Amino acid sequence: MYVCICKAVTDSQLELAINEGLCTRRQLFECFGVGGDCGKCNKDIRELLNHNKEHKLNEATNELAA
Ligand code: FES
Repeated sequence: MYVCICKAVTDSQLELAINEGLCTRRQLFECFGVGGDCGKCNKDIRELLNHNKEHKLNEATNELAA
């Protein structure tokens, strides 16, 4: 599914980039150009980043508890 229509960037592309270490909207903008035109995708990009951070935090918490 397209997240950024202006740059034709999908959620899969962004999730892959986030999993590879891009962790800010600025980094995703520099890599894909997302969010820099109309800006309508910024909310979805922020949600993708927050979801990834929560996932990593849960993984780290589970590792500490194990
Ligand atoms: S939809 Fe991403 S900048 Fe327009």
